Amino acid sequence: MKINEPNLQVRVRRLPEGIPREDDLEVVAAAVPEPKAGEILCRTIYLAVDPYVRSRLSGRHFDGTPKVGSVMIGRTVSEVLESKNPRHKPGDLVCVESGMQAYAAVGPEDVLPVDPTVAPLSTALGVLGMPGLTAWSGLCVLDPIRAGETILISAASGAVGATAGQIARIKGARAIGLAGSAEKCAWATEHAGFAACFNYKERDWSGRLARLCPEGVDVYFDNAGGEVLNTIVRSHLAQGARILICGLISQYNLKDPPPGPNLGPIVSKRAKIMGLVVYDFEDRRDDFLRDAIPWFQAGRLHYKEEISEGLAQAPRVFRRLMSGENFGKTIIKVGAHARAP
Ligand SMILES: NC(=O)c1ccc[n+]([C@@H]2O[C@H](COP(=O)([O-])OP(=O)(O)OC[C@H]3O[C@@H](n4cnc5c(N)ncnc54)[C@H](OP(=O)(O)O)[C@@H]3O)[C@@H](O)[C@H]2O)c1
Repeated sequence: MKINEPNLQVRVRRLPEGIPREDDLEVVAAAVPEPKAGEILCRTIYLAVDPYVRSRLSGRHFDGTPKVGSVMIGRTVSEVLESKNPRHKPGDLVCVESGMQAYAAVGPEDVLPVDPTVAPLSTALGVLGMPGLTAWSGLCVLDPIRAGETILISAASGAVGATAGQIARIKGARAIGLAGSAEKCAWATEHAGFAACFNYKERDWSGRLARLCPEGVDVYFDNAGGEVLNTIVRSHLAQGARILICGLISQYNLKDPPPGPNLGPIVSKRAKIMGLVVYDFEDRRDDFLRDAIPWFQAGRLHYKEEISEGLAQAPRVFRRLMSGENFGKTIIKVGAHARAP
């Protein structure tokens, strides 16, 4: 198929040290690929910029480290332009790991259909996509949340955290958030149903949490790790508490992982720590959507997005995400689609 423009790509120029710098990435014009047998040619509409990309660049992700010069990893909502695979036809909308680029030829694996009639297309990268599946898997499958429990959730205004808080509430639990600014906390309580949200950058957030939950929290759903996790383990666990380690974003920019928390209270509180990996629940995606789409359409799942325009924004947006400045799911709008709401 003849495309009359170059394929803009975001490539790794240098592996970042610390918070990514904008010149760690570069935006280059490449040729639009030809799909091989079994592949589809996709045009990117929305690109998700996810925190796990930084942990892959730091060499600590089990999926391996991208090479200098390679196209940055990224999940997209894309339109099929040309198909050499009988399962897809031109015009289909798909969610696919096609990388940070305008056009990609992708194989048959991991191509998920996107239904443009159920919700805005960008939600397939957030509340109804991988981050939503992560929250649902943690609280509905790995360690089902029970009515009446108190759950504390870090990065509460983010894609995973906000969805987790709202699912907990739907299941009859009380969700309390932790977030990095007054604005994020206000959104979490006003829009995402958190009963309270504490800014962990303010003095005495821990004292205020202790006054609200004198017996401690039943579940800590952690998206951030770091000193906040240490404080929760030390001072805020209820008897028999469970800790779901979902993400450790506070350490993705560090060269070496920091020393762990003192786990003494895990013993005295008879607590459990579980690791959550969304890939383990891929076969439950349809079950997730069977729950989440009706919740979404009934106005029970709110979400916040931060959408920038154009792939040239990727270096700035990635730096912003990895310094915690983003507010909501970080997305880049790359191309238009006639049916996009
Ligand atoms: N286990 C899995 O399978 C899985 C799947 C998806 C995502 N995750 C993890 O879940 C977490 C949230 O992901 P998300 O996509 O929903 O991201 P997000 O919450 O939309 O954005 C990241 C947020 O992390 C917080 N943060 C805390 N410490 C930070 C630091 N040192 N540097 C940068 N940000 C920091 C910031 O919020 P505050 O200002 O509120 O602190 C920031 O806005 C991440 O750790 C991610 O890796 C895990």
